[in-house]
Parts: sequence; structure tokens; C-alpha cells
Amino acid sequence: QDLSLTDRLGRPLRDLRVSVTDRCNFRCRYCMPEEVFGPDYAFLPRKELLTFEEITRLVHLFSSLGVEKIRITGGEPLLRRDLSRLVRMIKGTEGVRDVALTTNASLLAGQASSLKKAGLDRVNVSLDALDEEVFSRMNGGKSDVKRVLEGIDSAAEAGLSIKVNMVVQKGVNEGEILPMARYFRERGHILRFIEYMDVGNTNRWNLDQVVSKEEILRRIEQEMPLEPVDPNYYGEVADRYRYCGTDREIGIISSVTDSFCSDCTRARLSADGRLFTCLFASEGKDLRSPMREGASDEALEERLRGIWSRREDRYSDERLSRTPNPSRKKVEMSFIGG
Ligand code: GTP
Ligand code: 5AD
Ligand code: SF4
Ligand code: SF4
Repeated sequence: QDLSLTDRLGRPLRDLRVSVTDRCNFRCRYCMPEEVFGPDYAFLPRKELLTFEEITRLVHLFSSLGVEKIRITGGEPLLRRDLSRLVRMIKGTEGVRDVALTTNASLLAGQASSLKKAGLDRVNVSLDALDEEVFSRMNGGKSDVKRVLEGIDSAAEAGLSIKVNMVVQKGVNEGEILPMARYFRERGHILRFIEYMDVGNTNRWNLDQVVSKEEILRRIEQEMPLEPVDPNYYGEVADRYRYCGTDREIGIISSVTDSFCSDCTRARLSADGRLFTCLFASEGKDLRSPMREGASDEALEERLRGIWSRREDRYSDERLSRTPNPSRKKVEMSFIGG
């Protein structure tokens, strides 16, 4: 592994988030609102998706440039057939330490044990509420809480470590902060509260809908005092806190009020093989065409090096200092997997 590659702001390349499909069986309003992602929406046709072999080839090349963590995302990654096979292929790649999955868990109960057997280390499950009505309003009426909780329980039984992600939207699910905190504290899973972000161009994001990290902490501490905990690893996205006097934790992902670009080590690969150097990038760099036109490993590695070494994205930092330009084109969350 060559660990010396850095971008224009001195940031190394350590994580790769791989989207395996742009489809999802949910229609979360903040991610894939039904009015935009309706029955006529043109999702990627199958031949445009990278094959598992193509993904694994890229993972191998990224790993030789310093990537150690791979996160599989979507859309909803469990909609991709035989995902365990891909997990096994990635986990078998030299240099890859950690293979994780971000999922809505609606299909997790049936797949948890085969994913674990294939070598999956961890899952992050998105769940925005325990109240059925609130959850259904947020996900476009596509699933129920019980199904997601069953998915989480199956993953725990299979021996996967689990974090739960809750996007907090003002006036929508703020009331769920405490019930969610209590529930997952008792179960021993880390719950992470995510400030609602202005990803993509379809969710009509507005700063007024953001519940800040400070506000979230204040609400929890009214009932359960917290103390800060050091990050798990360099560039961790979430700030960690422990319930005082316990080993139970929560996290807060405050990409709106704090920003964490200065140590952002993440690259993102879309399902059709484009490389995005920021969650808020407008365009990705095509890796599929050169691969399908027969490029050598050396040539592809050179391309990756070139892209990373020219990277200068720092969108969240910039948003802190000036209001974002609403007409700027940004990749959709469901396309790039967060
Ligand atoms: P861990 O390895 O468990 O720490 O995973 P993670 O938190 O990096 O991944 P996950 O898919 O669970 O993402 C949680 C939230 O963090 C999502 O809302 C992501 O969009 C957001 N997130 C992850 N990486 C970045 C990033 O580089 N920039 C911004 N702005 N948000 C990010
Ligand atoms: N802001 C913050 N988080 C979001 N997610 C999806 N859309 C947004 C948004 N606009 C979360 C999902 C999932 C993770 C990958 O990103 O809930 O947990
Ligand atoms: Fe699907 Fe996740 Fe987007 Fe919700 S947030 S629509 S579950 S990809
Ligand atoms: Fe990384 Fe872009 Fe997120 Fe900043 S906004 S942390 S550069 S992905």
C-alpha cells in the first residue's frame, strides 16, 4: 500500500463508499421525494451498473492507494442481487480492513446471516422514528418500524455491530429524539443523529428545517447527561458522546453547523462507475469507460492518483461561511449513497 497520496488540501485517501444501485424501495422525503422519483423516473439500466468484478477490481486499486475502509451503499444496497457475493469479494481484497453496509434494513432480516458469513463487519441502519405514523410520513409510506427493528435484531443476532442513523428534521421528527435515544440505549446500539443536509437538488432543503447539534444535545441531556468521547479513528464523521456512568454511546453528525472537511478522507463511487470526490460534487469522473475499453491496472491507478491529487472539495466548510447557491448542481443522495 502506498499511503503517501494526498489531495491539494493534504488529505489522504482512506475510505471508499461504493454505491451498488441507484434504486430504493423507500421514498424518504429528504432523499427521494415521490414527486421526483415517481413511476416514470429513469433509473440506471442494468448494463450501466458496474459488475461485482469491476467493483472489486477498483477496490483493489483503491486499496493500493491507501483505502482501508469500504462502505457499501445505494440507493438501497440490499436490492442488488446476491450482495453477499460482493461482500466476500471485497473482504478478500488485500489491504481492506473494514467492510460496512449502510441500509434501510427493510430487507436485512433475510440477509443478515449470509452477509455476516461473507465477511461483513458492520451495518449502519437508517431509521428516523419509532412512531409508525411519523416514520411512514418520512419514508413515503413504504415500510413500517417493526420491519426495520426486526432487521436490526437479526443483524445483532448474526453478530454484526450496528449503528442507527436518524436524520432529524424540524417539525417532523424532533419529538422522536428522546424515544429513539431511550430505545437504542437500552439495546446497546449506537444511535447517531444527523443534521438534515442540503444534498442534491430535489429535497427543497431549507436551513429552518435543521435541528442543530447543540439543540439535539440539549434535549437529550435534559433527561440523560452525556460526556464527550474521543473519535474512533482519524476523520470520523460523528462526534461521540457517552451516557454518563455507562458504556452506552450516541453520535452526532453535524455537517451543517460544524463541518468536517479538513480531515475528509472519503471517495465515492457511483453505481455506474463514476468517482465523486465530495458528497456535494456536481460531476463524477468516469472510471467505467476506461475499464470497459481495456485500460490496464497501471493506467487506472494513474487516473485515480490524478483525480485525488487534484481534489480540493470542501463544501461544508464553504457553506459555513456563505449561503449556498441554490442553482448549483449537486449529485443526488440516492445516487451516491450519502
Ligand atoms: P462510520 O464508518 O460508521 O463512521 O460510517 P459513516 O457515518 O461515515 O457512514 P454512514 O453511511 O452511516 O453515514 C452517516 C451520515 O453521515 C450520512 O448522512 C452521510 O451522508 C453523512 N456523511 C458521511 N460521510 C460524509 C462526508 O464526507 N461529508 C458529509 N457532509 N456527510 C457525510
Ligand atoms: N441529510 C442528512 N442525511 C441524509 N440521509 C439521506 N439524505 C440525507 C440528508 N438530506 C442519510 C440517510 C442514511 C445516510 C446514508 O444518509 O438517512 O442514513
Ligand atoms: Fe432510500 Fe436511504 Fe434515500 Fe431513504 S434515505 S430513500 S432509505 S436511499
Ligand atoms: Fe468531505 Fe465534501 Fe463532506 Fe466536506 S462536504 S466532509 S469534502 S464529502
